[in-house]
Amino acid sequence: MAELGHTVIAIDTSTAKVASLSRGEPPMFEPGLDELMAKVMPTGRLRFTTDYAQARAADVHFICVGTPQLRGGNAADTSYVFAAAQSLAPHLRDGALVVGKSTVPVGTAGRVRACLQTGAPEGVHAHLAWNPEFLREGFAIQDTLAPNRFVYGVDGPAAAADVALLDEVYAGPLAAGTPRIVTDYPTAELVKGAANAFLATKISFINAMAEVCEAAGADVVQLADALGHDDRIGRKFLNAGIGFGGGCLPKDIRAFMARAGELGAEQALTFLREVDAINLGRRPKTVALAREQCGGTLVGKRVAVLGAAFKPDSDDIRDSPALDVAESVRRAGAFVTVHDPKAMEAAEHVHPDLDYAGTVEAACVDADLVLHLTEWKQFREIDPVKLATVVAHPRIIDGRNALDPVLWREAGWAYRALGRPTI
Ligand SMILES: NC(=O)c1ccc[n+]([C@@H]2O[C@H](COP(=O)([O-])OP(=O)(O)OC[C@H]3O[C@@H](n4cnc5c(N)ncnc54)[C@H](O)[C@@H]3O)[C@@H](O)[C@H]2O)c1
Repeated sequence: MAELGHTVIAIDTSTAKVASLSRGEPPMFEPGLDELMAKVMPTGRLRFTTDYAQARAADVHFICVGTPQLRGGNAADTSYVFAAAQSLAPHLRDGALVVGKSTVPVGTAGRVRACLQTGAPEGVHAHLAWNPEFLREGFAIQDTLAPNRFVYGVDGPAAAADVALLDEVYAGPLAAGTPRIVTDYPTAELVKGAANAFLATKISFINAMAEVCEAAGADVVQLADALGHDDRIGRKFLNAGIGFGGGCLPKDIRAFMARAGELGAEQALTFLREVDAINLGRRPKTVALAREQCGGTLVGKRVAVLGAAFKPDSDDIRDSPALDVAESVRRAGAFVTVHDPKAMEAAEHVHPDLDYAGTVEAACVDADLVLHLTEWKQFREIDPVKLATVVAHPRIIDGRNALDPVLWREAGWAYRALGRPTI
């Protein structure tokens, strides 16, 4: 927002995050973010605080707090959204617009507006728009500066003025041609859940195809390539492997199912249960393949795990399939050493029982098996001939179907991948 020319005050309840951001240090890794902060901080247009009173001067307030899965349930925990709305309300000026960005169950926006209205100063009319966030970690800056669409959910007599104000906020990307859809609250809220449900379904679809390919001796990568040439299908999100994770897709499809159930539309989304089950099933499947590759047992074996982040170009390890597999392999009796270009610190914090190494080579010393579990560019560039000299047994499972099997096999490796024939 500051890069788009606005003056921004960012409020977080975490004093540690505010302190590090105020020094110009992002508390997480996102490509280009260090550089962007170094560019923007000297302009004075971006400040960080824990003090909600400092929001008073703003014309537009974005609520972007987390909506994790409820402990012990599938629904979304929206308490942070309501806490933010409650803290903000007393500082609202008349005419200021609050914009919900968090991913929420349909029906939340109306309740957030009521919460704002209750807490707002006497005589202040609370305006609320819902503007779901579609950015992808790893591409967050590009997706923010040049998103592929805007969705504005608006309601009430001030709707036209709210749209006009949001258009001012997004003047740059709108002028560059970003399409925008103006709709009601429930449609705007549902777009995000539906988009994530579709993407998750596409990944689980190709992973289901991988299982059939394995049974039939076919190759899921070639199958995906062939499917992808049909532009009604498209090649994106058809990469078979150990499946999706992260802080969005898994919790969002579960919250979507839970909310549909509350609305009496549970039947409509039962297929998402299968999508979730197919996805989670990839992890034990990978562990079983690892066991098979190690001659029937993982006990006492040395296993190198390449990747800890849930996806490349991120240090986010929330529900990371790579770490889940690494942990299961360790529990099955193996000595596991993990390497990730950016997510080691986060991983070590949550999984102190795993071993960590600063380089790919160090992680692979004397390994009986290498597991490639997050498709970082750095891993695609590994020289398999060189790495073969480091390990005890040149055996690799490519959990992301991202390495070149010909190259690895020519270098003497036993290369296995989910959904591809064994040679
Ligand atoms: N991460 C993504 O790629 C992505 C993409 C699209 C949408 N979303 C959605 O955006 C929302 C945020 O996701 P995230 O990954 O950034 O979550 P996060 O948990 O990483 O960050 C949330 C932040 O909110 C802060 N916070 C919590 N309560 C607060 C309060 N009352 N006042 C001020 N700050 C508070 C936390 O300290 C934390 O820094 C979620 O609804 C998520 O589903 C995330």
